[in-house]
Amino acid sequence: MNQNDKLILCVGICVLDIIHVCQEYPEEDSDRRALNGRWQRGGNASNMCTVLRQFGAECEFIGSLSDSKAFSFLIEDCRDRGIVIDHCVYHTTPIAPFSSVILNEINGSRTIIHSNPNMPILSADDFSKIPYERYKWIHFEARNVHETKRMIDSIVQWNAEHPDQRITISVELENRTEKNLPLVADADYVYLSKDFAEIMGWMSKEVAIHNLRKYVKKEAKLVVPWGIEGAIAVDNESDTHFSAMARPPAKVVDTLGAGDTFVASTLYALSNGIPLQDSIDFGCRIAGKKVGFYGYDNIALISDDLLTKIRDQ
Ligand code: ADP
Ligand code: FRU
Repeated sequence: MNQNDKLILCVGICVLDIIHVCQEYPEEDSDRRALNGRWQRGGNASNMCTVLRQFGAECEFIGSLSDSKAFSFLIEDCRDRGIVIDHCVYHTTPIAPFSSVILNEINGSRTIIHSNPNMPILSADDFSKIPYERYKWIHFEARNVHETKRMIDSIVQWNAEHPDQRITISVELENRTEKNLPLVADADYVYLSKDFAEIMGWMSKEVAIHNLRKYVKKEAKLVVPWGIEGAIAVDNESDTHFSAMARPPAKVVDTLGAGDTFVASTLYALSNGIPLQDSIDFGCRIAGKKVGFYGYDNIALISDDLLTKIRDQ
């Protein structure tokens, strides 16, 4: 199989997002009506697949899924969008993971309360059943350091044994626990979110990227998106620094998944051989447009020169 025809695999969680669009951020213990609302499939890796499919990329999600009725909506949504879920593991859970999300109509801010009563995280043993030869890129939403480390180790081993079928590894540090930091050691690309930087006490994107460099391999490339400040990146080996401005729309309405949209867009460009600078610019352009509308579906309608160039390749 040609490397270009292979899939991008995103490893992480899939959850139900219950979204309320509120006139303003509600007061505690008040009884309000939302302006609008919807249910949506969420979770970082799951959202990334949604965005990748909007670009027409072939991609797969792997993670734990619930066999509860509420979850069938999420599973069908993956199928409708052509997101492969063949290697997911199903669990019987009385309550499936979900997030309550408040979108503030005034500024598009998103407040997320995530709840996962008892869904087990994907294990390295489950992961080891994937057909490695089918993937060109595997992206990890860093969770459960022990299991995820074993998954990454298994790809490093595959790469050593199959140099002509090398799989690119990327890791996103987003989950607010510093225990996940060692997971970046073998990644080719590392994404670090503002939320994660905050728990490390890295209060600016420049400090964050500088400190992150101590934990990555020599050849790694690091990318740090930072909300309205845009994003920066570093090629660790050549010590070359890159930066991209945020591209705010006329009105910001929905920042839920802005980071996932940025990471997926950047990854899509990189996986098509686009240089790091142009890839983070593209990520900021697409994420900037996304925050101007609700959900992810309008991404398919965005016209962008880089997108056209990639599609025409
Ligand atoms: P997260 O969703 O993880 O909190 P960020 O807030 O860092 O992610 O946003 C990721 C990217 O989305 C930023 O680098 C930027 O390009 C874009 N973005 C986020 N918020 C805005 C905004 N208000 N206006 C324009 N672009 C934004
Ligand atoms: C957005 C998101 C939501 C989900 C939450 C989980 O980045 O993936 O879709 O509810 O984060 O932490």
